[in-house]
Amino acid sequence: MISEDAYDYLFKIVIIGDSGVGKSNLLLRYTSDEFMEDSRSTIGVEFATKSLKIDNCFIKAQIWDTSGQERYKAITSAFYRGAVGALLVYDITRKPSFYHVDQWLKELREHTEDTIPLVLIGNKLDLSDVNRAVSTEEAKQYATDAGMLFFETSAYDSTNVNDAFETMFDHVY
Ligand code: GTP
Ligand code: MG
Repeated sequence: MISEDAYDYLFKIVIIGDSGVGKSNLLLRYTSDEFMEDSRSTIGVEFATKSLKIDNCFIKAQIWDTSGQERYKAITSAFYRGAVGALLVYDITRKPSFYHVDQWLKELREHTEDTIPLVLIGNKLDLSDVNRAVSTEEAKQYATDAGMLFFETSAYDSTNVNDAFETMFDHVY
């Protein structure tokens, strides 16, 4: 009998970005199809896993989430160690969270291989009509220049969440 837990590859993915951009909710939406209206800031490190199948290979994606707040941050080197992909999240309604992408990218590059696929995610797309502060064009250009994939997502209404994760897994694989 094949164990339900059997897999061919284990992918460690990290999700980073400023506090409050929606990292934990993106993870929750992707792995459990849920959303938390009043979620607390993450303390330490949380994981979630998702099993997927690409080209007849069973893959277990282990997604690591930590707080964007400096004081709750996990020990950086351990958090990044072994990551084969990263999601870098900003909030389309908060410009500073987009400006900070530079710093997150720098930290990421110091701790991971240069070749891993990176996805820039502009989250809270559901608020775009009233509260958008970062244009799609500007972010897309940034992603292109930095060699990142790019998606705008909503953890709230699910838009593009699966696509963002799965496009990255395709590039890891
Ligand atoms: P830290 O753990 O502090 O780094 O924050 P985080 O990036 O994990 O943010 P979290 O997922 O906890 O979300 C912060 C707040 O934004 C919560 O109130 C969420 O309900 C809200 N939120 C997250 N994603 C979305 C989204 O796509 N749309 C809207 N409207 N709200 C969202
Ligand atoms: Mg969190």
